[in-house]
Amino acid sequence: MANPSWSRRHIISLADFQPEEYDTVLQTAASFQEVLSRRTKKVPALQGQVIANLFFEPSTRTRSSFELAAKRLSADTLNFAPGTSSLTKGETILDTAKTYLAMGTDIMVVRHREAGVPLAIANEMDRLQSRVGVFNAGDGQHEHPSQALLDLFTLCMLLNPEKPALSLLAGKKIAIVGDILHSRVARSNIWSLTASGAEVHLAGPPTLLPKLFADFVSSPDSSINGIDRKLFLHWSLQPALEAADFVMTLRLQRERMTQHLLPSLREYHQQFGLTHNRLKWCNPTVKVLHPGPVNRGVEISSELMDDPKFSLISQQVTSGVAVRMALLYLMGSGKLS
Ligand code: CP
Repeated sequence: MANPSWSRRHIISLADFQPEEYDTVLQTAASFQEVLSRRTKKVPALQGQVIANLFFEPSTRTRSSFELAAKRLSADTLNFAPGTSSLTKGETILDTAKTYLAMGTDIMVVRHREAGVPLAIANEMDRLQSRVGVFNAGDGQHEHPSQALLDLFTLCMLLNPEKPALSLLAGKKIAIVGDILHSRVARSNIWSLTASGAEVHLAGPPTLLPKLFADFVSSPDSSINGIDRKLFLHWSLQPALEAADFVMTLRLQRERMTQHLLPSLREYHQQFGLTHNRLKWCNPTVKVLHPGPVNRGVEISSELMDDPKFSLISQQVTSGVAVRMALLYLMGSGKLS
């Protein structure tokens, strides 16, 4: 059964996502969360469809939860490992995608360390007039839409588990702290969280939070849905954390740092590391998020990461399965109509 309110074949970016689309994802994910609480955690929604996980870059959470989500929807899954694939013999990425198309793939979930690869595959699928949907599972420093949507779902379910909705975050203060420059998670979260009416405060050292982020939400993309977005930049931690309702801390992506951007990890932790002590600046009910994987003791103390009073990190991973079921269902069910 197709969802009449869903018209996207591909999900590459959240820049032009509409509030109704966020709500459709949240409500569909809540239904699947209920399915996942049953004894039999499987539904026949995508029976007979083929979902290929094309991960050209390492992943634990995203890859496993997309695979589990597909299996819970009764789809057939194909997993691709670049090191043992014909990429090693010189096959191109587009020819790899066309090979999966020829096998009858319905949805391709694509991760690559270069920005733009999922879009290039989506464009090629459209050029070939196929009905394949392409999902961006993280491309370089560009976007990671499913991570931002599962973060949104985690927050909205905390605020109203009966009816999660984007508008629940209106007026909340949300801090995103750390290596913003290299973070596709931050970029997708900026789109989703500012669309909710929340105040989003970015904090990090100037080398990891360039001034150009001040213009991020006034880029031409953001005018598509005419949302009044509230984004603030800070080059120290305290103003971002003061009275914050939620704090998202990000991994220092040392593998993407081509220049010397930090004095030392110890100094970084002293200036921007999240600890119990620093949460005292926040709203007393503050909760902490991290997309993972975590550098324990660098962007967040080990004690805080493991403290269930504050940390939503495990819940984020759990939410990932229901949200990815919702996304695959919304993309895949349209193909059945
Ligand atoms: N958050 C995230 O994308 O984690 P993985 O790299 O493990 O998929």
